[in-house]
Amino acid sequence: MANKKKTVYVCTECGYDSPKWAGKCPVCGQWNTMAEETVYEGGGAKKAQPSAAKAAPTPITEISREEEPRLMTGISELDRVLGGGMVKGSLALISGEPGIGKSTLLLQACALIARKAPVLYVTGEESLAQISMRGERLAAQTDKLFIMAETELGSILDAITRQEPALVIIDSIQTVYDPELTSVPGSVAQVRDCTMAFMQYAKSRNISIMLVGHINKDGAIAGPKILEHMVDTVLNFEGDRHASYRMLRAVKNRFGSTNEIGMFEMTDSGLSEVPNPSAVLLAGRPENSSGSCVAAALEGTRPILAEIQGLVAKSAYGSARRTSAGVDYNRAVLLLAILEKRGGIMLGAFDAYINVVGGMNFDEPAIDLGVIVAVASSYLDRPVRRDLALFGEVGLSGELRAVSGARQRIAEVQRLGFKKCVFPQACMGSLKGVGDIELLPASNITEAIRLALE
Ligand code: TYD
Ligand code: MG
Repeated sequence: MANKKKTVYVCTECGYDSPKWAGKCPVCGQWNTMAEETVYEGGGAKKAQPSAAKAAPTPITEISREEEPRLMTGISELDRVLGGGMVKGSLALISGEPGIGKSTLLLQACALIARKAPVLYVTGEESLAQISMRGERLAAQTDKLFIMAETELGSILDAITRQEPALVIIDSIQTVYDPELTSVPGSVAQVRDCTMAFMQYAKSRNISIMLVGHINKDGAIAGPKILEHMVDTVLNFEGDRHASYRMLRAVKNRFGSTNEIGMFEMTDSGLSEVPNPSAVLLAGRPENSSGSCVAAALEGTRPILAEIQGLVAKSAYGSARRTSAGVDYNRAVLLLAILEKRGGIMLGAFDAYINVVGGMNFDEPAIDLGVIVAVASSYLDRPVRRDLALFGEVGLSGELRAVSGARQRIAEVQRLGFKKCVFPQACMGSLKGVGDIELLPASNITEAIRLALE
């Protein structure tokens, strides 16, 4: 049946659809959310691929549960973030800013997998010669690694059908287009449609597919955000492009825990794994200087120590400046307000700068205390005591609140040779029997600052 094709504009926020494009959605009032979609009259949505099994409701007790077979990439930091390798027949998205190292990491992983099974790497961004040159640098010259420079959806799916690889990389999803849609590659409609097609292919043929998605700050390219609910796994590649360390973080994982992180260093021969991130993040830490402290964070199952720096300086202009890197800006401003109101440290006439060393990004409340102590230390110009680390969430009344994983944090603190640790009083219960370290519980920020500073 030949269905008639029609273009409509759908708001990505509220789902309102209209035959005409508008800059502002007339229903929810959001700007720039109307995206082009193609619909088929008479036939509903575009005809889906035949699904493998007829779906009949099954009692939950009778569902057979097999361990999903997994494809190990051979890069242990990557495998751990994936939750123990890539699940066969799953679709993953790896997103990050351009130049962060997505293509590099995936080409390295492909080369390792290609020793055992065929791998197809589809590039829409670089030429075959460029990939080959990079491959040489990364020692990725394996004959089961197939490279294809193609951006048309149909040809890519054909190639997958012919080659039957175990793993397919699409670098990047924003360059792939379906000629049936009128919109340009990278638009919401294209990106969504192509992702849907890859999803069906992955599931029905039991092939793992990894999509690369660029995060673009100005939003000109449809961001990977709209894909997050469609794919099984979302990995974010982050870090400072100008520094050599990179963090790979699972923000969604249907087959493993989220917030698991892997750490890499960009070298001349590609990305190398960093098995001991805390030691790297703490290297070069100033001794005995004010405005720096070591906070114990927990990323997924992994404790990580990082240096947090605070700098407080007299404001030259009327309004005080605040910046933060590695800690959410709003959280940082809130912590400064708590420090002022509950800790009695008046920052109104001072600029305050907060920085997590090494380009690491934390969204965990347990590093609150680190921010508070680093800023207080700079303001009071008193260094943090030697061999002291800390962690704890700070509440609006200046109280320290319990955080999860206190034992793991303390273990990492000890492993890196720290002798003292300041943490919320409420965590004391879970730290019974911890020896060889001076435990310094505190119930509010004033107490914590007193315990932490010289
Ligand atoms: P790339 O993987 O192309 O980034 P993305 O795919 O996320 O856009 O990485 C690009 C950067 O990595 C580039 O600036 C050069 C650097 N690089 C190295 O330092 N060493 C290497 O071995 C490779 C391959 C790249
Ligand atoms: Mg790339």
